[in-house]
Amino acid sequence: MQLQEKIKQLADKYFDEVVKLRRTIHANPELAFEEHETSKLVADTLEKQGISVKRGVAKTGIIGTLKGNSKGKTIALRSDMDALPILEATGLPFASKNQGRMHACGHDAHTAIGLGAAMILSELKDELHGEVRFLFQPSEEKNPGGAPFMIEDGALDGVDEIYGLHVIAQHDAGTIGFCEGEMMASADELYITIKGRSGHGARPHFTVDPIVTSAQVILALQTLISRNIDPFKQGVITIGSIHGGFAPNIIPEDVKLVGTLRSMTKEWREYAHIRVKEITEGICSAMGATCEVLIDKGYPVLRNEPSKTIFAEECARELFGSDNVFQAERLMGAEDFAYYLEKVPGTFYRLGIRNLKKGITADIHNDHFDIDESALKTGIAMQAYLAVKALQR
Ligand code: NI
Repeated sequence: MQLQEKIKQLADKYFDEVVKLRRTIHANPELAFEEHETSKLVADTLEKQGISVKRGVAKTGIIGTLKGNSKGKTIALRSDMDALPILEATGLPFASKNQGRMHACGHDAHTAIGLGAAMILSELKDELHGEVRFLFQPSEEKNPGGAPFMIEDGALDGVDEIYGLHVIAQHDAGTIGFCEGEMMASADELYITIKGRSGHGARPHFTVDPIVTSAQVILALQTLISRNIDPFKQGVITIGSIHGGFAPNIIPEDVKLVGTLRSMTKEWREYAHIRVKEITEGICSAMGATCEVLIDKGYPVLRNEPSKTIFAEECARELFGSDNVFQAERLMGAEDFAYYLEKVPGTFYRLGIRNLKKGITADIHNDHFDIDESALKTGIAMQAYLAVKALQR
């Protein structure tokens, strides 16, 4: 029997179990670095498949190791396990039992898919020319992310390639999407304090007004996008919060601005950091004010290695046919899978979960978010097939 057929049969065989696992995880969501029950369920399930397990990696993470019957490369498959602080409103029979916490980003599905792929692969040891490493990481949602700690704890030691997926609500269940090169943005937080000299609102000439200065800083920072980036490239700067002052007739002492900076290349990210400081300091100095600019670095740019992306896309076409493969959109959102891709070549792809007929259309991070569970079958078959094929190359 052809490998594709074998994997599809195994995906059918384990589908019900994977759905059950996904529902259990969905009903018991845990926040970043608190994934104790999820982690235990993952480790126990892997051990039941005869996969050797290392617990307590990066606090609540798990590494599973499956060795094939012949030697070769090591391929890592990654799943993230954390939920979000959202009050679930789906009304599903397996809705969250933890008030105010919800698997609204599909990480329940990602975890169940990782386990399903492990089930399939543990039956294919003869086909595995090398080793498959299953990474179940904590805290994808919360900066600084679980990925850097997984890497610190050896998750990538000896790994040749890595693959991961994320559900996407804008594409139908049964479809898979790929994007070569930069797919997701780096995300850095900006904390700017503009300091003036307070005084009476009717006697501005005795003061240094940090509010007027802030207004100019905010507008000038937007020129980062209109004047400091190649028009064919992308970046975003958003000031999402401004706080200062407390009365109509008082010029305050200082104003605090908080924002986010997104970029699609490492080079422009570094340049933008310099420009944010130059622009803010320059305007403040012209206005007689001073400032403090703090940039809290978040996830890096997520760059899919082109040859691994083309390979993965080929695998998807072989398994599901070209009609079910789409060109994945580039997004300004950030994802800590980027840290793995900085170290090891691989690709991060999209798994469609929408079903218009069933009314499953809510976006991720929405309190009505749900998935068409048939996508789980697509996901487990794809991850398993990718691992086998990558080891055979
Ligand atoms: Ni997510």
